[in-house]
Amino acid sequence: MSENMIRYERDDEGIVTLTMDDPNAGANTMNDTYKAAMDETINRLEAEREEITGVVLTSAKKTFFAGGNLTDLQSVTPETAGEFFEEIEGIKAQLRRLEQLGKPVVAAINGAALGGGLEIALATHHRIAVDDPKIKLGLPEVSLGLLPGGGGVTRLVRMLGIQEALMGWLLQGQQRNPAAAQEKGVIDQLVGTREELVPAAKAWIREHADDETAAVKPWDVKGHKIPGGTPSTPRFAANLPAFPANLRKTLKGAPTKSPRAIMSAAVEGSQVDFDTASRIESRYITELAAGRESTAMIQAFFFDMQAINSGRLRPEGVEKSTVGTVGILGAGMMGAGIAYSAATAGIDVVLKDVSLEGAQKGKGYSEKLLAKQVEKGRKTQAQADEILDRITPSADAQDLAGVDAVIEAVFEDYDLKKTVFSEVEAVVAPDVLLCSNTSTLPITSLQEFTSRPKDFIGLHFFSPVDKMKLVEIIRGEQTSDEATARAIDIVQQIRKIPIVVGDGRGFYTSRVFGTLILEGATALAEGVDPQFIERAATQAGFPAPPLAMLDEVSLTLTQHIRAEAEKAAAAEGTTLTRGPGEELIDTMVELGRKGRAAGAGMYDYPAEGPKVLWPQLRERWGTGAEVPFEDLQDRYLFIMALETAGCFEDGVLTDAVSANIGGIFGIGFPPHTGGPATFMTNYEGGLAGFVARANELADTYGERFRPSAWLTERAAKGTLVDVSA
Ligand code: NAI
Repeated sequence: MSENMIRYERDDEGIVTLTMDDPNAGANTMNDTYKAAMDETINRLEAEREEITGVVLTSAKKTFFAGGNLTDLQSVTPETAGEFFEEIEGIKAQLRRLEQLGKPVVAAINGAALGGGLEIALATHHRIAVDDPKIKLGLPEVSLGLLPGGGGVTRLVRMLGIQEALMGWLLQGQQRNPAAAQEKGVIDQLVGTREELVPAAKAWIREHADDETAAVKPWDVKGHKIPGGTPSTPRFAANLPAFPANLRKTLKGAPTKSPRAIMSAAVEGSQVDFDTASRIESRYITELAAGRESTAMIQAFFFDMQAINSGRLRPEGVEKSTVGTVGILGAGMMGAGIAYSAATAGIDVVLKDVSLEGAQKGKGYSEKLLAKQVEKGRKTQAQADEILDRITPSADAQDLAGVDAVIEAVFEDYDLKKTVFSEVEAVVAPDVLLCSNTSTLPITSLQEFTSRPKDFIGLHFFSPVDKMKLVEIIRGEQTSDEATARAIDIVQQIRKIPIVVGDGRGFYTSRVFGTLILEGATALAEGVDPQFIERAATQAGFPAPPLAMLDEVSLTLTQHIRAEAEKAAAAEGTTLTRGPGEELIDTMVELGRKGRAAGAGMYDYPAEGPKVLWPQLRERWGTGAEVPFEDLQDRYLFIMALETAGCFEDGVLTDAVSANIGGIFGIGFPPHTGGPATFMTNYEGGLAGFVARANELADTYGERFRPSAWLTERAAKGTLVDVSA
């Protein structure tokens, strides 16, 4: 089949057009078909070299080239690392032969070129792309725990200089459209349409037919210097002091190995010749690919996300649905945010509150956000106006008559929600989906009082809605498959990420999140230094540390949730044990330190300047107790992972995808772990290794770390979930 993957056409001017078109896939990737075809192609180009004027490389697919083969990358282990290194070197040698063919090679970039796709283009002498803002170019490997090992680091550093290559492109994996990439010097030329691409490429080759330098890369010319210098040149050294600070800011404390490897590959590679640098780069990618982090990140950010996007969480057999208008009940913080997100996604909104002023105030929230977008140039005034026009504020339930779905976000009050839904049911069509954004009330108890419980479902948005991508969909006992599928459709139409969970106290995300903030309070009660508590979490990769989060959630709400759980336990004839963390929270509330909204909590919130940890925390509770840094980090990760396991055991979770994606996007479980489910199964020694370490933590820090009999049994079987979505 290999001859079909890259079509070879030579015109009568001697210009060869290579069209990449994998016959077995929707996109071109670096699979075996590609490797074999590229080999044959380069052999032929070299053999016919004298008759060739130049080469145009393009693609027949919608995208130019999709990049590396992630299934292969994920399966690299320390045992197969040697083989992988050779393979990477083989792919790079092909590109190097193309680069050193002695004839100008032009990349005609018709669509997205990400990862390996952009690396192929970087090996050509001239890059022309279609000026379409929807086309994405970039090296996103860092977001999968990898580095651009197909020559991306080595070439970009030589083209742009170390700093420019690292910031944005390599360390953040930013994706740019062709015009922005041209500004940065990664694209050389733009054309208006796809049809103009190959002719423009041929024209460039013709223009440069007599120019021998057109087929030579700058780094293959003796004396080439890296722009901006290298660590051994004074110019670079002058900029060096600001570099670590910039880097820290860029990486935001994430502990992932890949940014560090990318930096080392860039810096070390800048001090040696191209081919040595390229080998250094191969060594680093091999190390990353064989490690645990990339396995976990590829799982979460590629395979788990793919499972969601391709509808694998969606019950089968229900036709895909879209909504034209949604009714949102309650125009407070959440309702206003949901209205903004829905309207931005092109959905009409009836935003209802008790008074018209209240509803208008909710719409005002969108006005503010949109004004900012216009100010920043992200939207035109006309676009902003169009979005705003979609939101109709109302105080009259009759206005909900034509809606396709209802999302309720009134106060967290059981009786109020009951009243509001009966009012709505009287007005809306009998097949309208009924969703509640409740954060704590069991969906099963709410659905009981509607006349059609099968159409009732939880749609738990996160605050601030415009920024948080996750929506936790909660099935009550009577929720139908059809309602679940329609809820997933709505969430995706609003351009958010849906996960599906079962009913239960705190559902999935809040239940697990609660254990993290309590663990912070518990460590404080043990006498551990508060700053140490916070730093351990940040350095473990949590976006915000536990004591700061406790303030955000508020200590009183935490108390309230606890009290409800105690009541429920009492009703079942059991009691919940109170730990030192809960007692500390009670004391703080008695001292009037209730959290950020109250102006004081674990932190002080001065009118000017950033918040600071309340100095008395250390005076009151600090005993100088020492917990090893790594143990404290493990305590955060394990307490959350064990609660996640509890959710599986209780049936709140049935698939690892929801556990992982909900953990990362909803409650800040460190992304480099791949999410709580992958953290457990990918742990050194697998699930059994995780259970062994949990037992160790239980022996030292308390029974809350003791794995349940269910989990211990699962570990013996070696699988966490029977059927994975
Ligand atoms: P909020 O207090 O900001 O807004 C509630 C709104 O409901 C108010 O504007 C109020 O006037 C309105 N309302 C009261 N009775 C109404 C009625 N009969 N008809 C129409 N509107 C009525 O509350 P927030 O924070 O927006 O929360 C709303 C819901 O979302 C609650 O169930 C809460 O538990 C849940 N939630 C809150 C999150 C948060 O971070 N605040 C996160 C996720 C869910």
